[in-house]
Amino acid sequence: MLMKNRDIIKLTDKYVAQTYARFPVALVRGKGVRVWDADGKEYLDFVAGIAVNGLGHNHPAIVGAIQRQARKLIHVSNLYHIAPQSELAAELCRHSFADRVFFCNSGAEANEAAIKLARRYGGEWLGGKYEILSTHNSFHGRTLATLTATGQEKVRAGYDPLPEGFRQVPYNDLYAMERAIGEKTVGILVETIQGEGGVILPKEGYLTGLRELCDRKKIVLIFDEVQVGMGRTGKLFAYEHYGVAPDVMTLAKSLGGGLPFGAMLAKQEVARSFVPGSHASTFGGNPLACSVGLAVLKTLLQKGVMRNCNRIGELLFEKLLLLKERFSIIRDVRGKGLIMGIELDRPCGKIVEECLKEGLLINCTANNVLRIIPPLILTKRDLDHGLAILEKVLARQ
Ligand SMILES: Cc1ncc(COP(=O)(O)O)c(C=O)c1O
Repeated sequence: MLMKNRDIIKLTDKYVAQTYARFPVALVRGKGVRVWDADGKEYLDFVAGIAVNGLGHNHPAIVGAIQRQARKLIHVSNLYHIAPQSELAAELCRHSFADRVFFCNSGAEANEAAIKLARRYGGEWLGGKYEILSTHNSFHGRTLATLTATGQEKVRAGYDPLPEGFRQVPYNDLYAMERAIGEKTVGILVETIQGEGGVILPKEGYLTGLRELCDRKKIVLIFDEVQVGMGRTGKLFAYEHYGVAPDVMTLAKSLGGGLPFGAMLAKQEVARSFVPGSHASTFGGNPLACSVGLAVLKTLLQKGVMRNCNRIGELLFEKLLLLKERFSIIRDVRGKGLIMGIELDRPCGKIVEECLKEGLLINCTANNVLRIIPPLILTKRDLDHGLAILEKVLARQ
């Protein structure tokens, strides 16, 4: 039976855990920057699986890597060496500050690994430090530890008692961070750019200030680049824009080209606190995921994708500034590369729904921020098409 939107929605409503408020469409096919629902309607995709499909849907490099690796070996345990895992780790280290990589399956798991590593390091080398400081409005995942690190009450609600050893201070406030560092603080965990919190960029000097603080206090600086890593901002990693490097960094989302995949990268000084048996993941770094990760990384580095991201990102920013002049409901426009936030003076749910009807997928975060996170391969033509829909919808408000 060929299922239509209505059939799929009915099944979901009956059998799937009710953790998501979903739009009433089921996406069944994708190509490049477009997706189609089960009724055949076409959409331009400015959401990209929330910054996952960096190379767009069904990119030939990703499909090819999946096909080649699936024929060879899909999964094997970390009891053995895994060729694509060793290659991907080497490439990630070659192109970043890091010396070692731990592979897992999601952003939350990558942050969980970072928190666990920091705690082991603090226990072993810093006399028993364990506390992680993070920031208000942040998002780090949904496991118990990562939701406790997340600076949003709504994410934590209903899960008491939460694990100990986490505190938050305002983002972009160096003074507050410095004051918060206590005897037991082992590290600072921040998103290089806050994504879920409404696309909030670090103020000039904030990240370098955090680096100096961590150096001075001899604690660990952890950047969460789950959302903004892997080319999203026009550089491979967002920290490269700010002339600063962390001790630990987490990745996921577009690293796997759409497969569930995450990674925690660390400098050897800290990474040495993970030894055989201290952390593990059955699926983490499996051959299929790592082959795709390698294909994603190579495509990003070799095929002008980040150049395109920068060019289209700049155009997008200019065009959004023009929209801001025209529509008084737009309070602010901000972002880097192809992560842009349009802050409105009202909740953005209705606009998102109307865009969907007009054939544009766009996302709303932090209640009143329209977030544009399209595939990095977006062309000027498709950008114009998407913005024309947005403009039409904004004109109706
Ligand atoms: C910055 C950041 N960290 C962590 C996560 C959690 O990733 P996942 O949903 O893959 O667990 C997200 C997800 O949106 C994120 O944006």
